[in-house]
Amino acid sequence: MEKMIAPSLLSADFLNLGRDIEMVNRSEADWFHCDIMDGRFVPNISFGIPVVQAISRMAEKPLDVHLMIVEPEKYFEAFAKAGADILTFHYEACNHIHRAVQQIKALGMKAGVVLNPHTPVNVLEDILGDLDLVLLMSVNPGFGGQQFIERTFGKIRRLKAMIEDQGLDTLIEVDGGVNLQNAAALYEAGADILVAGNAVFKSENPLETIASLRGREAI
Ligand code: DX5
Ligand code: ZN
Repeated sequence: MEKMIAPSLLSADFLNLGRDIEMVNRSEADWFHCDIMDGRFVPNISFGIPVVQAISRMAEKPLDVHLMIVEPEKYFEAFAKAGADILTFHYEACNHIHRAVQQIKALGMKAGVVLNPHTPVNVLEDILGDLDLVLLMSVNPGFGGQQFIERTFGKIRRLKAMIEDQGLDTLIEVDGGVNLQNAAALYEAGADILVAGNAVFKSENPLETIASLRGREAI
């Protein structure tokens, strides 16, 4: 169990993005989570390649880029050039997952597949060995600040069992509605990385919240 935290910049103050990136740099967080939405795969549009490029110039931790877009493979190279270190795309948006994963790795990034709340984990059984991580959505993708879907706990446990059965070290990331109330139980169920948007950026003391989400005192 890794116990990592990836604050989602979707909930940052875009007028003060540099300040918020600086805060994450100083925090105990492990990765920056960047949510890319196209208004087609999800009913919302966030930010794109030039913004990721700007973030990467200031970020001192790996950029975890979550693509919520149709035809994600068209943009792998652009996100690699923009500074992405970890690239995840949706199972529901791609017909050739094996090829897509190889493309991401060939570009020098870690590769992960994302599952929507309705997609069972067993669809990944024959590709799991090729993945660096699996991202389980614990809300319907598209917006920050939504309520955590409790059924995600079962998915985490089933995915963890699949990973152990196959003797792999694939990481499990959970995204959506993560907060101080459910973080410890999510790690306990088998999650390695928790994405947190509102819980971090809307809190009184983001540095302390990041440390508490990992179950530690702030530095
Ligand atoms: C939702 C995004 C999430 C979002 C999480 O589509 O993938 O990363 O920013 O926000 P919270 O933690 O507020 O649910
Ligand atoms: Zn996300």
